[in-house]
Amino acid sequence: MNNQSTYFDIEKVRADFPILNTSVNGKPLIYFDNGATSQKPTAVITAINNFYSHQNSNIHRGVHTLSQNATNAFEEARKKVQLFVNAEHNHEIIFTRGTTESINLIAHTFRKQFLKKGDEIIISTMEHHSNIVPWQLVCEENEAVLKVIPINDKGELLIDEYKKLISSKTKLVSITHVSNTLGTINPIEEIIKIAKENGAYTLIDGAQAVPHTKIDVQKLDCDFYVFSGHKMYGPTGIGVLYGKEKILNNLPPYQGGGDMIKTVSFEKTTYNELPHKFEAGTPHIAGGIGLGVAVDYMNNIGIENIEAYEQELLTYATTQIKTINGIRIIGEAQKKAGVLSFLVNNTHPSDIGLIIDKLGVAIRTGHHCTEPLMNRLGIPGTARASFSFYNTKKEIDIFVDAVSKAVKMLA
Ligand code: ALA
Repeated sequence: MNNQSTYFDIEKVRADFPILNTSVNGKPLIYFDNGATSQKPTAVITAINNFYSHQNSNIHRGVHTLSQNATNAFEEARKKVQLFVNAEHNHEIIFTRGTTESINLIAHTFRKQFLKKGDEIIISTMEHHSNIVPWQLVCEENEAVLKVIPINDKGELLIDEYKKLISSKTKLVSITHVSNTLGTINPIEEIIKIAKENGAYTLIDGAQAVPHTKIDVQKLDCDFYVFSGHKMYGPTGIGVLYGKEKILNNLPPYQGGGDMIKTVSFEKTTYNELPHKFEAGTPHIAGGIGLGVAVDYMNNIGIENIEAYEQELLTYATTQIKTINGIRIIGEAQKKAGVLSFLVNNTHPSDIGLIIDKLGVAIRTGHHCTEPLMNRLGIPGTARASFSFYNTKKEIDIFVDAVSKAVKMLA
């Protein structure tokens, strides 16, 4: 299969990502570990370099020109993110270190403000550890109860079971938009609607969704939506918490320090307005600016084009991998993003991963930080290929061939 895309010039796009020219173990790199982190286009790398070379300065603190420029660049990035997810207000975008920190921020502040003994929080079987453990911690502290929506064998949430679990005791429903392990796209519109009918707050983990599909937080009407910069072509160490203004204003601060205060005295401290109230200390300034450029980059290709092309890659990869004897695809939901998890006969996923790495193909193997999901499926882990718009059908052919070879070697 040749490299082709009817949606954009794939060769031009690939040329924007210097790392795609790299060789690994003497073979051209085929990078199918986009679920773990995406590669970065030159525009993002240049923006970071540029910041440290020409603009580096602290923000929100200096009267000097450099500081003013850095502040403007950082706040412009916030505006880009706001428009990207269609938040109503700029200050509803809080910069964090990533999805994990965003969830922990809400877990700890929500616990203080809203969670009482006997209250319930609902998550699902397919959550990443970062959307399980923070809730376990707060439930333990507040004597609240954690409830879990089950899935069917295809890896789809059982919405009827969710309806049975939810009640007036439910304070929050925290669900992943797209499963990092299975690729399942969850019906979050329906999940949010049911939560609202029952008076529960909603948090959506969008780490695996934002890089692949259009997000409109106002249309979704969720209370919180969280994601990471590094999975959407931006730098590591920067992420986003979107929250509705009214609710964020109602939550106590998370961390104390500079920038999050209005006035400090030993008797009483008052807190800054949104978004600064939740951004204590010097933030990842270059990261925020880099994320803004990543948003520009995705907008230039067009999120609809990205989604359509990645769906094509997923369909092609699924068909091709099924030609391997003994293949078992893990996660066969009707609606999936570009994630292909699989097992072959009794081979260990890590062995497949190690062998195909020698052929230049990078995939992730293991439990993918979803141990409870692995337990539910009765498997120790999977081999997982996760695609991006810079991948090609030709790469999929090489990958399938490499898996085939690995299986033969391991037989
Ligand atoms: N959560 C990331 C993944 O799925 C790291 O690989």
